[in-house]
Amino acid sequence: MIASEILVTGASGFLGGYLANRLADDGRKVRVLARRSSDVSRLNKDGSIQFCYGELEDLNSLRECMRNVKTVFHCAAMSSDWGDERAFWRANVLAIENLVEIAKESEGFNCFLHVSSTDVYGYPMFPGDESRELKKVGLPYNESKIEGEAVLWRAYRDVGFPVTILRPATIYGPHSMSIVKEIYDHLKSRTMLLVNRGESPAGLVYVDNLVDAAIAAADSHDTAGKAYDITDDEVVSWFGFANTLADRTGTKRPFLNLSESIALKCGYLFEALWRALNISTRPPLTRHAVYLFSRDQQYDNRKAKVELGYESRVSFEEGMNRTVEWLKSADD
Ligand SMILES: NC(=O)c1ccc[n+]([C@@H]2O[C@H](COP(=O)([O-])OP(=O)(O)OC[C@H]3O[C@@H](n4cnc5c(N)ncnc54)[C@H](OP(=O)(O)O)[C@@H]3O)[C@@H](O)[C@H]2O)c1
Repeated sequence: MIASEILVTGASGFLGGYLANRLADDGRKVRVLARRSSDVSRLNKDGSIQFCYGELEDLNSLRECMRNVKTVFHCAAMSSDWGDERAFWRANVLAIENLVEIAKESEGFNCFLHVSSTDVYGYPMFPGDESRELKKVGLPYNESKIEGEAVLWRAYRDVGFPVTILRPATIYGPHSMSIVKEIYDHLKSRTMLLVNRGESPAGLVYVDNLVDAAIAAADSHDTAGKAYDITDDEVVSWFGFANTLADRTGTKRPFLNLSESIALKCGYLFEALWRALNISTRPPLTRHAVYLFSRDQQYDNRKAKVELGYESRVSFEEGMNRTVEWLKSADD
């Protein structure tokens, strides 16, 4: 059951912003943890959200933000296909170690809702369900998300720490910078690349649907120690997603295409070159991006449906309407 004192991390980001606003709109007492550099302009400004400035890597500042907190929605993460391995570890593992250490000491702490990712399954050819083993494939995002989960599963096993994990596949909606905005920018510059003609299901989940699942999981009495894969019901391929975005924004459909094997070789080469030359910006193609665009990501959402009453309330049609409206208003 969500207690009155809720902390949302990553609220300046895409998912965390939606979650914090929804919880506040529902009349719950919400605090967000933000960095001094975070852009919190999307969050409700009516006083319904309390702001606490701190660093996830710094125990002292975290203690202050965790005071009286009974429920944490942990959305903060370094979520990227490229970056320094140590930065991934600090954001995706150390941050969780710190939060768990403080939460374990907090009287009445009752729920740590952690947002993980289906990337922890290691991009198999065919998606499964939550019983699939987690697999490291030598990519820092995938490995750090697995290690972050491991910290939480250990705490659950050792002291019954009340953790529930959601593993969304591809989150989309207004304010999605890493999926929607990036694909839109590539469509505009005619550099959008499909892999295997974009035939693989993208495993989309509309952001509000994921927020529903997160709140249902934290509200439930019976989700501690469990993980849930979250996708929408409608199966949409990358081809379908990119073409719908192109058609509705008046941009041209993508024409560039590579097979997965060629794209992976290009990804390897770019990554090696970028590392050798110590270039900090992202390479034009990475293995991580190729896996996401070429592997079926339609993970099974049946456990969430049965146990959380999850339903993908916002359809693809409606989700894309809202998304395109946002893109157009951002362009104006
Ligand atoms: N987007 C997707 O398609 C997708 C898919 C599957 C799973 N996920 C998972 O869903 C969660 C939310 O993703 P998102 O797309 O909303 O991410 P996002 O938009 O990139 O937001 C990330 C948030 O984390 C914060 N953050 C990052 N490093 C931090 C640190 N070291 N200390 C404090 N805050 C830090 C950022 O704060 P600043 O604003 O200060 O940088 C921001 O608020 C993540 O756990 C991600 O792994 C995302």
